[in-house]
Amino acid sequence: MVRIGISPDPSHSGGEPPAPRHVAIIMDGNGRWANSRGLPRTAGHERGVEALRRTVEAARDLGISYLTVFSFSTENWRRPASEVNTLFGLLKAYVQRDLERLKQDGVRIRVIGQREGLPADIAALVDRAERETAHNTRFHLTIAFNYGSRNEILRAATAYAQAIADGTCKGAATEDGFAAFLDTRDLPDPDLVIRTSGEFRISNFLLWQAAYAELLFVDVLWPDFNRAHLESAISRYHERERRFGSVNPGAT
Ligand code: FPP
Repeated sequence: MVRIGISPDPSHSGGEPPAPRHVAIIMDGNGRWANSRGLPRTAGHERGVEALRRTVEAARDLGISYLTVFSFSTENWRRPASEVNTLFGLLKAYVQRDLERLKQDGVRIRVIGQREGLPADIAALVDRAERETAHNTRFHLTIAFNYGSRNEILRAATAYAQAIADGTCKGAATEDGFAAFLDTRDLPDPDLVIRTSGEFRISNFLLWQAAYAELLFVDVLWPDFNRAHLESAISRYHERERRFGSVNPGAT
């Protein structure tokens, strides 16, 4: 099979094809995981953080360079306040507890989404985590928090239009020019987007960036997601043929 556009990994020594460079995950199913055990939904989110830790480690081991995870959407504000508070508390605890180790492991942390609306202590913590890991290049962990793709696109479009109007950006609007105003401006587009829990939706996640991503919907609830699931997802990615709108070079 001819594979087009799978990013080469310079450290790759042959044999297995290289891992996708950028994997993005919609971590879904925490509530169902908890409900099925008679636990409060928040217990599912707590176990979801453990699954995130496992996945960061596995992604690094498997040669993935960029991992982006959807942790709190602009629509999640519709949930009960207690659940919203738990999710904010989990982000805070995750950064506080894991920052030193992530720094030592060469992980660069980014948080994408609307910063306004975050409690001041969390916004300050997120700023600090980004600042203190800004020089790291070994692995890029991006947490989408208070993130919605439409919100991001609207913010980017507003800023881009302003930059064109005031002359900061010269000439006509371009796709690359626009993408430079997205929260993901420093990131390559995702190669693979995984959604757990068996639901078949994108839910306002990386709509612009995932234009040519391979989509994979896996029937496992996020708190149960582990290294074997990620390995299996990469194998399934390798079975795909990416054409980016072109044709297979062998096609007649
Ligand atoms: C979707 O499951 C999951 C979320 C809305 C939150 C994801 C959050 C985590 C995995 C933990 C938090 C991690 C950090 C770093 C903050 P759901 O609650 O919609 O599950 P359901 O569809 O089964 O109800």
